[in-house]
Amino acid sequence: MPVSIKDLQDKAEEYHAWMIKVRRHLHRNPEVSFQENDTTEFVIGKLKELGIPAERPLKTGCVGIIEGKAKGIGRVIALRADIDALAMQEEGSHKKDFISQRPGVAHCCGHDAHTANLLGAAKILMDYIDKIEGKILLVFQPGEENLPGGGRLMCETGFLQDAGVEAIFGLHTSPVHAPGTIAVKSGPLMARPDEFEIELIGQGGHAAGPHLTVDPIVMAGDVIGRFQSIISRSVDPTEPAVLTIGKVQAGSTYNVIPEKALMLGTVRTFDRQTAMMIRDRMEQIVKGVAEGAGGSYKFAFNEGYPAVINDEALTMQLKKAAYGLIGEDAVLEMEKPIMAGEDFAFYQEHFPGAFFFLGSGSNDTGSTWSWHHPKYNVDERCFLTGAPLMAALGLGNVLTGA
Ligand code: NI
Repeated sequence: MPVSIKDLQDKAEEYHAWMIKVRRHLHRNPEVSFQENDTTEFVIGKLKELGIPAERPLKTGCVGIIEGKAKGIGRVIALRADIDALAMQEEGSHKKDFISQRPGVAHCCGHDAHTANLLGAAKILMDYIDKIEGKILLVFQPGEENLPGGGRLMCETGFLQDAGVEAIFGLHTSPVHAPGTIAVKSGPLMARPDEFEIELIGQGGHAAGPHLTVDPIVMAGDVIGRFQSIISRSVDPTEPAVLTIGKVQAGSTYNVIPEKALMLGTVRTFDRQTAMMIRDRMEQIVKGVAEGAGGSYKFAFNEGYPAVINDEALTMQLKKAAYGLIGEDAVLEMEKPIMAGEDFAFYQEHFPGAFFFLGSGSNDTGSTWSWHHPKYNVDERCFLTGAPLMAALGLGNVLTGA
């Protein structure tokens, strides 16, 4: 007998309280990127309770391995959750029962929910161990929030490649979508976030004698102005791209021309070629301005995560499973990608993958605050959709829609 999506939904109801407890424990005890030691031990402990062995390809994080007992095609499917929290102070009386016990560290991006949700999916899947063909890898990944990205490091270990992973699925809670819904799209979903740092070096001196100086503030003004033409004049107008200068710093007082001006910012695109073209145009402009003024410059462009590009067939599989679970109207088709980044993209450089947004925002639980806001929260009803959906994706072809 194949498993039905209804069975998975019933199981999620049954395990809902368990998932909430897990999530609240994680929420109370957040750890920043690459220092998720207690979190890793906790997750391994929970997997052990479920009878799932875990490997540790990296110092923190782990991969739980469900070995199916059914004979059939030996598929290997990976389901991923990120486990790290942010270095920020949490706020909010609506979270008083489970607010962070660690000053300056908080789960304000929902990764506690991602982890609890995947453990919930694992608990559901273990009830169907006899139906599972092949393997399901539960990837609890560290360090999503900080470069170089735990997803990248996980891929560099070759662990998932050696295990023969054929497809990978991941999700992020979404404060702008209601619980009981998901949002997804095929193709480009999230941008490539690169970062740049520019130093314009002049020669300082008295503000009343500018002819004896090389003024880096004037250079900065030129650079800022000319950068505005990169997106409008050099990038293909049908392609989304952003260049934002987020910080400009120079000078100390009224009557001194400083030596240097510093600029930090980010470039968002959907492919590396465009990003590299923008980088080259930026450097040409900086060089032209600095040298033209008689100064010099330093230019650094740090490549961030690649773009999240969803595989078409897997997105279709995801949508079909979700139709059975929550109905077609609750599966929201995104018209446009978003310019935020996500290190799930690294997996997609190695395996076909699909990533989606799990609706977790409601007014009554104070969970409509944006990602990384000190009051960020998730409506825990999202587990009733997220856990059975992840379980369904793990089960793949042994699932029936009815
Ligand atoms: Ni996040």
